[in-house]
Amino acid sequence: MSGQPLKIAVAGLGTVGAGVLKLLSQQAQILEQRCGRKVVVTAVSARDRSKDRGVDLSAVRWFDDPVAMAGAPDIDVFVELIGGSDGAAKAAVETALETGKHVVTANKALLANHGTALAERAEGRGLSLAFEAAVAGGIPVIKALREGLAGNRVTEVHGILNGTCNYILTEMRTTGRAFADVLAEAQTLGYAEADPSFDIDGVDAAHKLAVLTSVAFGCPVDFASVHVEGIRHISAVDMAYAEELGYRIKLLGIARLTRLGVEQRVHPCMVPKDAPIAAVDGVFNAVVAQGDFVDRVWLVGRGAGAGPTASAVVADIVDVARGRSTPTFGVPAGQFARLEPSPMEARTGAYYVRLMVVDRPGVIAEVAAALRDHNVSMESFLQRGRAPGEAVPVVLTTHDTDEASMQRALAAISAQAAVLEPPRMIRIEQF
Ligand code: NAP
Ligand code: HSE
Repeated sequence: MSGQPLKIAVAGLGTVGAGVLKLLSQQAQILEQRCGRKVVVTAVSARDRSKDRGVDLSAVRWFDDPVAMAGAPDIDVFVELIGGSDGAAKAAVETALETGKHVVTANKALLANHGTALAERAEGRGLSLAFEAAVAGGIPVIKALREGLAGNRVTEVHGILNGTCNYILTEMRTTGRAFADVLAEAQTLGYAEADPSFDIDGVDAAHKLAVLTSVAFGCPVDFASVHVEGIRHISAVDMAYAEELGYRIKLLGIARLTRLGVEQRVHPCMVPKDAPIAAVDGVFNAVVAQGDFVDRVWLVGRGAGAGPTASAVVADIVDVARGRSTPTFGVPAGQFARLEPSPMEARTGAYYVRLMVVDRPGVIAEVAAALRDHNVSMESFLQRGRAPGEAVPVVLTTHDTDEASMQRALAAISAQAAVLEPPRMIRIEQF
């Protein structure tokens, strides 16, 4: 094989880092063919040198400090697999770009918070900043959107962007197990972030959505404008009602061009049981893009874990080895479209609401009056069981309404004496 070996340095040897080293070693032959040259890991960095990572590190140089490694003269590509929006990961990536190295990262937190600035830095120096693994793990969604759909105006991207949440929701639905029990299992399997609240509170999906939005619509990464809600409040009762009403509960990320600008939201959704996305279960992710020429494109695969994520990281390394590069987010950062955020209050659609109310005559009339007063039309209403004078769950769904009206109606309902707990609301999405 002709060509100089591609020298890479890997910072972070946890779930993903160790997975990348294993993949590079096991697939060395096929990768040499695909890269047109050898890929050689020359340096690594992590915190604990004594930890057994299940990979042979005897021939590589060890750095305690990833920033020093990023600045070392004898590497071509800096692979950042530490994680975190700031700290060591950011400092090391900046140093790598300053000192002329291409960067490959799986770090959506870093890109969501600093993606535009880092893209400007990389593009200003003619370097790649590649991040296939940062969104939807092993699914090649960045390449599909940025390159495969380059001939389209993309108007919407939505999907299941967090494997941990999808795993938890699936296990809760299919086994009836408790939330905390399933979360612990997801952590053991290497799906969850170092801080699992990032997963279950929707932040990880929001990081990914902010990155996807930039690639889809050619605009700056705007994480601050993403409306974020997680899955902590989803209960077995909601799961059961969803099933009865013909829905499944999924944590979705949705980015849309609207007449007001760009809508970006992450929250639990009820989707019809027969919608394709309802069938995407477990740690699997799905991304659906709508383009003006291609129509709807579906991508499904494993969104987390060592193997799938390493697969995406290595795809980026192969691109760098081959000298294939595009602007970081599809269009040069200096030419980004300036799009206004579309406010959450403008979201239009149906809603599911669960209330705990005192079981006495007239309560439902009071709830219905609050909906009427705020111009929200009820579609269905369900009370199971009877407990005169005591608390009973009551569930209703609405016809399409706007979020602002729904929120005003919910505030009025919450204030009613017969309503014993804050209402639980889940938005219904028809795909
Ligand atoms: P992880 O298992 O927690 O591994 C993090 C690694 O970074 C560890 O090896 C740790 O060293 C090292 N590290 C932490 N601070 C460091 C520092 N200051 N200097 C040098 N090394 C440091 O995390 P992970 O799951 O592999 O995730 C890595 C990145 O991939 C994150 O950005 C994550 O969001 C992203 N990602 C993860 C997945 C997934 O399925 N896990 C999927 C897609 C993307 P020690 O081992 O010595 O503690
Ligand atoms: N914690 C993330 C998830 C890892 O569960 O999807 C993949 O980014």
